[in-house]
Amino acid sequence: RDRQPFYGRHQAGIVTSQPAAALVAAFDVLADDRAELAELMRRLTARTAALMAGEMPAPTDAKLPPPDSGLLGPGGMSDNLSMTLAFGASLFDGRFGLAAHRPKRLAAMAAFPNDALDHDCCHGDLLVQFNANTAETNIHALRALLKDFPDGLALRWKQDGFLPPHTIKTQGRDTARNLLGFKDGTANLDARDEALMDRIVWVDDRAGEPAWTAGGTYHVVRVIRTLVERWDRTPLREQETIIGRDKAEGAPLGLAQERDLPDYGSDPEGRRVPLDAHIRRANPRDAASADSVILRRAYNYSNGLTKAGQLDMGLLFSSFQSDLDRGFIAVQTRLNGEPLEEYIKPVGGGYFFALPGVAGPHDYFAKALL
Ligand code: HEM
Repeated sequence: RDRQPFYGRHQAGIVTSQPAAALVAAFDVLADDRAELAELMRRLTARTAALMAGEMPAPTDAKLPPPDSGLLGPGGMSDNLSMTLAFGASLFDGRFGLAAHRPKRLAAMAAFPNDALDHDCCHGDLLVQFNANTAETNIHALRALLKDFPDGLALRWKQDGFLPPHTIKTQGRDTARNLLGFKDGTANLDARDEALMDRIVWVDDRAGEPAWTAGGTYHVVRVIRTLVERWDRTPLREQETIIGRDKAEGAPLGLAQERDLPDYGSDPEGRRVPLDAHIRRANPRDAASADSVILRRAYNYSNGLTKAGQLDMGLLFSSFQSDLDRGFIAVQTRLNGEPLEEYIKPVGGGYFFALPGVAGPHDYFAKALL
């Protein structure tokens, strides 16, 4: 029951439901040529399949380091672990002779006007998104990769995240709140709607993309600090007009229920939901932006203090879309200059391409590319 499927057309961790704990880790790939990269991907495929299945190698010789950290105890368990692998633009920079096969829209993430990107927390050749019921399971899997691939992978940056557990128990019916205290995910796309996912999330052979990408999707990660001390001193009404929803119920302003759909056509001047409210800028719900939508998969994070003594916490934002320009970049461009910017600071992340799924035991990650 707690096992995520490893084999399939698509990787797990994209449209599958969100467990409570997340960790994203970006790596530099240390392989010297394409053959070494292919060998690395073959071994990563086998290791990922075993970790997601909860297989736990037993020690055979006490004079050697144990084959597993032991963090989860000797028995195997899946704990809902999914590991979702994605390539960054730098993997296609020429080292492996893959430049001609780069997903068309994949480039290094460029800074938006409100960004203060810390280069040490951006980009990477390979991104692994770990999702599981518990943080220990994600850390266990990350440590397994670090231990088993010292010659293939160098950790570049990582960020972990969490969701309030009570929202997990009710299987998403109770929307999680982000650290600004607002429900987050209400108007997200329904990931169970396969036709919608085919249209918005998955790359297929009609996309004009290299053939090897079919079944994959662009994965955007943004580490967005939220300036919570300032937010907590902001009047409730102002918080609500900045977001465009009421705080307690999560309904669009002027409506009663969380799931009520805003009708911006009957509110052209923004008397109910201001024109620059976050939800209205993000999704104007007009004909021109009908396809400019994204599948979000967000977690909260909390990291300690900044040098200035403020809480270092925020949103570990991910989005998935088959067209990076029409998806995340268009949505973020509409959000540029929104009033919420006074309270948020994107500091890290990157653009990646989540690989197509592994079809079966004879396939491996990105085999069609390599
Ligand atoms: C909706 C908060 C960043 C895109 C929302 C909602 C909240 C929220 C409270 C309303 C509930 C919901 O439908 O989920 C935040 C905060 C952010 C942030 C606090 C940063 C810390 C972003 C970013 C994007 C984005 C970076 C994409 C570029 C959206 C979209 C919606 C949404 C598409 C749904 C709008 C709709 O369909 O009505 N956000 N968000 N958000 N947000 Fe954000």
